[in-house]
Amino acid sequence: MYDSGKILTGLAIFVLFVTFPIWYNHGDAGAVPKVEKAANNATQCVRPVDEMRSEHMQLLNEWRDDVLRTGDRSFAVEVDGKKYQKSLMNTCMKCHTSKKKFCDECHDYASVSPYCWDCHVAPEDMN
Ligand code: HEC
Ligand code: HEC
Ligand code: HEC
Repeated sequence: MYDSGKILTGLAIFVLFVTFPIWYNHGDAGAVPKVEKAANNATQCVRPVDEMRSEHMQLLNEWRDDVLRTGDRSFAVEVDGKKYQKSLMNTCMKCHTSKKKFCDECHDYASVSPYCWDCHVAPEDMN
């Protein structure tokens, strides 16, 4: 009656087809998109890069809270002998000059869209 061989082959193809996005992406799982290099040949971020990758949101929140609650916008960090303020625009975006080619590149991939830019002006090349 039924040709079980054909059914199994059909099933196998179906399963492969349906799960394609899963195994096709497998080699890349956990990989992050390539983002634009920091400007001015900067070699260091305001914290170790690994830490920045996973915790930049917390750091930004800390900076914002410090500035809003205490009015303290004094220098937060020194990188390569240069001092930087606790500021999204005046610090992060001075090195990471493109929201699009840096922040968005990862955020689109991770499906997050921080609302920061509702108020904070992004550097000009983008939006
Ligand atoms: C002095 C320049 C400088 C400043 C200021 C700076 N960064 Fe960075 N950042 C770098 C460099 C250099 C790297 C390493 C990657 C590279 O070479 O571009 C990096 C890496 C990162 C990464 C990881 C990117 C990756 O390749 O995975 C994130 C996220 C990041 N920075 C966010 C921020 C945020 C948010 C701020 C502000 C709180 C900030 N950075 C301020 C220079 C800077
Ligand atoms: C290396 C990849 C990467 C880069 C580059 C990057 N982000 Fe993120 N960012 C993420 C990921 C992933 C999340 C989501 C993390 C989570 O939910 O735990 C995130 C979350 C955030 C959040 C919290 C948003 C929310 O809804 O929870 C803020 C704020 C943020 N990023 C700001 C920035 C800014 C500003 C820049 C550019 C200066 C930037 N990020 C660059 C990967 C990146
Ligand atoms: C409703 C408007 C609004 C939104 C949305 C918003 N901010 Fe702000 N933010 C402000 C204002 C106003 C200040 C105070 C500006 C000042 O005193 O210079 C500020 C200050 C800051 C500061 C410290 C000062 C500076 O120059 O950067 C940081 C860091 C900051 N915000 C980060 C963020 C991040 C990250 C997000 C998204 C998760 C965000 N903000 C979303 C309005 C906003």
